[in-house]
Amino acid sequence: MTGRTEILDLADGTRIRVPVSDGAGLALWSSVGEYPVYNALVYDVMTADKVRNRAYRQELAVVAAGRRVLDIGTGQHLNWALHAARCGARSVTAIEEIPDSHAAAGALLARLPERERIDLVCGRSTELALEDRFDVCVSEIIGTIGGSEGAAAVLADARDRFLVEGGTMIPHRCVTMVAGTGLRQIMPRPAFDPRGLDYLRQIFDTVGHPFDVRVGLGSPVPDAPLTNAGPVETLDFATSPRPEGTESVELTVTRPGHLDGLLLWIQLYVGPDGPPIDSLFQSTSWLPIYLPVFDDPVAVTRGERLVVEVHRALSDDGIHPDYTVHVTLGDRHRTVTSTHHGPDFRASAFHAELLTPA
Ligand SMILES: C[S@@+](CC[C@H](N)C(=O)[O-])C[C@H]1O[C@@H](n2cnc3c(N)ncnc32)[C@H](O)[C@@H]1O
Repeated sequence: MTGRTEILDLADGTRIRVPVSDGAGLALWSSVGEYPVYNALVYDVMTADKVRNRAYRQELAVVAAGRRVLDIGTGQHLNWALHAARCGARSVTAIEEIPDSHAAAGALLARLPERERIDLVCGRSTELALEDRFDVCVSEIIGTIGGSEGAAAVLADARDRFLVEGGTMIPHRCVTMVAGTGLRQIMPRPAFDPRGLDYLRQIFDTVGHPFDVRVGLGSPVPDAPLTNAGPVETLDFATSPRPEGTESVELTVTRPGHLDGLLLWIQLYVGPDGPPIDSLFQSTSWLPIYLPVFDDPVAVTRGERLVVEVHRALSDDGIHPDYTVHVTLGDRHRTVTSTHHGPDFRASAFHAELLTPA
């Protein structure tokens, strides 16, 4: 492995050598939202995400006044619960499943006047029995692939058990888009941002072993696609999101290049009317995901067809989906996976380059 590297020392004694960027240009981050590795920095990044927060606050300002609001996954800062209360919600119940985050939220709330109107509960929404039903359910458990944090299973359950008939779900829907890309063209030596290594180590320790994590590109990459884009996961929270399903799309190469994988990113409609938040074009806390497909990049020319079929099925935790992706480019067919917690480890040349047993 050439260039700078670091060693991750895992709790099970495994040591993994990873390439690390020199701090300049594009770098990789593991996708963190699917795992209970949230810390103060992660919550600070979300609380500072102006694009995301503006959209949520606008929507709450439209629907919260006089309503009973449920905030699922309120985090350390109770962002939506506080805003709903300040918009005149009749009552607010805020749920957080990570005990440390719940405790930090409790300490914050104790200092604020909104404590009179916000009921803070510790637990996972799918495992809680709440006495009330709510007019509005607000949450931000949207992944870098829209459903990867378990939004479909969690919010389908919340609709069924907690929402009144005709109640409002925020966000309204999320569409995950896909396009073909050539990562090697924009990042000849894939390497992690050193600031993200501790999250990577914690993800492996939480899962119990290293595996082929999802990796995001550290900034929006609007010029990265070599094809047009299309939807491969559509979650409609306003009706009922389906935790499992298959969607496929036929794409066309729009410029010549060397295609080695797929870019996946979200278009999040926080309210029913657009425009959506688009993580390929806007700087937000959601990173575009790179999924390796071809170990050897394939030369493509304008007009060639790329067919992508994405199948999502719940992993054995019943919340987080695993994705199986079938790709056809000319006479080449590949099936790749992007799972929540393995077992694939170094299954692609890309992941073998990123994660080397030391
Ligand atoms: C992406 S953060 C969002 C935090 C905050 N709502 C915000 O938007 O700034 C997601 C939070 O939801 C929590 N969470 C995820 N699924 C949950 C569930 N089913 N029940 C309760 N908390 C959940 C996570 O622990 C995390 O704190």
